Amino acid sequence: MIDYAMDATYLVASVFFIIGIKMLSSPETAARGNMLSALGMLMAVGATLVSGAIPDFTWIMVGVVIGSVVGIVGALLVKMNDMPQMVALFNGFGGAASALVAVSEYYRLGAQLSPFITVVILLSLFVGWLTTSGSVVAFLKLQELVSGNAVVFPLQHMINLVLGLGTFAAMGFLVLEPGHENIFFGIIAMGLLLGVLLVIPIGGADMPVVIALLNSYSGIAVSFTGFVLSNNVLIITGSLVGASGIFLTKEMCDGMNRSIWNVLFGGFGADAGSGVPAMEAPGGIVKPYTIEDAITVLENADQVVFVPGYGMAAAQAQHVVRELGEALEDRGITVKYAVHPVAGRMPGHMNVLLAEANVSYDALFDMDQINDDFVNTDVSVIIGANDVVNPAAEEDPSSPIYGMPILHVDRSKTVIVLKRSMNPGFAGIDNLLFYRDNTMMVFGDAKATLTKFNEGIKAG
Ligand code: TAP
Repeated sequence: MIDYAMDATYLVASVFFIIGIKMLSSPETAARGNMLSALGMLMAVGATLVSGAIPDFTWIMVGVVIGSVVGIVGALLVKMNDMPQMVALFNGFGGAASALVAVSEYYRLGAQLSPFITVVILLSLFVGWLTTSGSVVAFLKLQELVSGNAVVFPLQHMINLVLGLGTFAAMGFLVLEPGHENIFFGIIAMGLLLGVLLVIPIGGADMPVVIALLNSYSGIAVSFTGFVLSNNVLIITGSLVGASGIFLTKEMCDGMNRSIWNVLFGGFGADAGSGVPAMEAPGGIVKPYTIEDAITVLENADQVVFVPGYGMAAAQAQHVVRELGEALEDRGITVKYAVHPVAGRMPGHMNVLLAEANVSYDALFDMDQINDDFVNTDVSVIIGANDVVNPAAEEDPSSPIYGMPILHVDRSKTVIVLKRSMNPGFAGIDNLLFYRDNTMMVFGDAKATLTKFNEGIKAG
């Protein structure tokens, strides 16, 4: 009877997870989706604790209290820009938890290990430790505790391949002869080593994609743990995390028009920032304008589209952008926000920042929704965005970002670009937009410039 009750609770919890994930797809419902999934997890944990399978859960409660404190403090203290590294650490904890369960089940079952359970224990162990060490490297790179540059050396991929194949061969042997503890520890070491080796060749700026992938791995490890423990809710949750992590990785790669292989093995972005584009290029000359010039153009517009990018996050300019938008709307100007899927450095980066600044969801437009509207736009204001508005993606087949979908801001009557210098963005390349006749470059920190725009518009 208790088994039926538990499975029924697990089923309801799983439905909550699925609906919760679906709700995450819109900023309007995302917070409630998160709560629903958390409620599902609470139900699943509660059902497991009262099932009688765990005679004493003192240590579990200690873990729950410590985990809750770390989670709450992290959520309150970690800045939005540092969120990718926090997610990296959480993935690492997920991987380690699965791997530790695998270790404990290996020793608990000992001589009773069946071939199937040994296979899933070893997979959970390997994927779990790989996720843990890979996530730690991703965290260290993003937190700039180690260099974010891609670390590459000769025969790197071949070495990784040999290590991976060797590990699977060792697993096969251990399934036949489960008693060989030294091989068991060898597989742990291989998982840890491969996690490091697979992440070091990836440039720091590509880390968000890797984190989505590691998130997927942590889900896969949890799913294997579900098979180890014959626990349905772990199998379902792990599969959901594994699948959604893969989809997110694909979405990010599509947004950059790069294959996952290029992200993982291409060493892209390693040289970003090395070349400073000139003020003059074969296609034109960069024209710096004053804040007053830009205010005049804004005052005379009927429709203004704000295009945020990584620089808005770096300048923490989202609140000033919203204030400026309101000031323009007070003058009868239509204001919209165009969000590119990979603007910033993590999925939904711009949406989260604009939501934090209370920008109405109705004013936010995805790339596909807004691209045809740029021809009707008087002024596009580019706030620290660069690659996502670079026409080279469509016009220059030799460009590393050729083929990446972009926001067609260059079709607006006037483009105002806010950035501090001629430095390139993440892709490390010159931006053809800056040399266009209808582009006004207003150099300076985005927040400081927008604050002055605000003062000017309100005074005007
Ligand atoms: P980027 O192309 O990286 O450009 C950001 C620009 O912001 C820079 O050119 C920089 O110029 C400017 N900036 C920095 N601090 C500023 C400040 N305080 N005030 C004003 N401007 C400032 O950004 P993007 O257009 O958002 O493109 C994102 C890039 O990241 C894409 O290449 C994308 O493929 C990549 N990427 C995205 C993700 C996700 S999921 N979003 C994941 C991995 C990689 P200055 O230094 O001259 O100011």
